[in-house]
Amino acid sequence: MDLKLEDRICLVTGSSAGIGKGIVKVLAREGATTIAVARRINLLEDLSNEVEEMGAIRTHLITEDLSSKEGPENVAKKVIEEFGQIDILINNAGQSVSANWDSHDDLWAKSFNLNFHAARRLTTPLIPIMKKNKWGRIINITGGMEVSGLNAASTGKAATHIWSKGLSRELGPDGITVNCVAPGRINSEQILERLHPDPIERSKFIKREIPSGYFGEPEDLAVLVAFLASPIARYINGEVIRVDGGMAKFAH
Ligand SMILES: NC(=O)c1ccc[n+]([C@@H]2O[C@H](COP(=O)([O-])OP(=O)(O)OC[C@H]3O[C@@H](n4cnc5c(N)ncnc54)[C@H](OP(=O)(O)O)[C@@H]3O)[C@@H](O)[C@H]2O)c1
Repeated sequence: MDLKLEDRICLVTGSSAGIGKGIVKVLAREGATTIAVARRINLLEDLSNEVEEMGAIRTHLITEDLSSKEGPENVAKKVIEEFGQIDILINNAGQSVSANWDSHDDLWAKSFNLNFHAARRLTTPLIPIMKKNKWGRIINITGGMEVSGLNAASTGKAATHIWSKGLSRELGPDGITVNCVAPGRINSEQILERLHPDPIERSKFIKREIPSGYFGEPEDLAVLVAFLASPIARYINGEVIRVDGGMAKFAH
């Protein structure tokens, strides 16, 4: 299937590792021009080299802290200055933050900022370009809504779902789709190093929770993102789609 992504300009946040890195590689493999954003420049450079070795267009790099007040706007400005164009925006940067019922305001605010406001602040200045082109794709990487306990990131992800839905209704007439992709457990730094560092606990969790029997790879999710980013996915709009090996128990 030709996804018709050649020469499309794609911006992927949180792409020095994990899911974001996988998304850049899949989009680049499809012929897109990719722009990767994160804080760790050494990892971004490794990604750019890997993409070039694949024979794809070398990934452009932007180092920025998206949780800073000016970070998202700086990224949008750099993209507009350098490319004057944006076709596909993947808001992926985010982080799980465990919380208690009495966690401090700062923890909630910091997490909500990265997992919701950062994406919204980056998206807003890029929308006028997509509207002008009468074409665009906005894909937000969120998370499951079946919580096993308190996690400050989940509130930001839930806000992103409802914001995306509203945005999809506003922007649909301009040929722009807005969708969310919700990972279950995809191998990444945060999953392997922070959430499930113990291999024995990990195996037990998989046996109990994941019908497919393993944690997914970034590419398992990235292929869906590439499809949603494609012109052929024009009629899929305002959705939240899970990629979780069957982990979710609700049938909706
Ligand atoms: N993996 C899963 O199973 C899973 C499950 C549920 C939800 N998610 C969501 O999926 C997304 C990707 O997760 P992941 O598991 O791939 O995470 P990860 O391995 O921890 O990678 C996170 C990426 O985001 C970047 N990042 C974090 N904070 C940033 C900031 N303030 N400014 C700029 N970049 C920042 C990191 O790069 P630097 O450190 O270099 O900045 C890194 O490239 C996140 O939104 C996460 O909440 C993942």
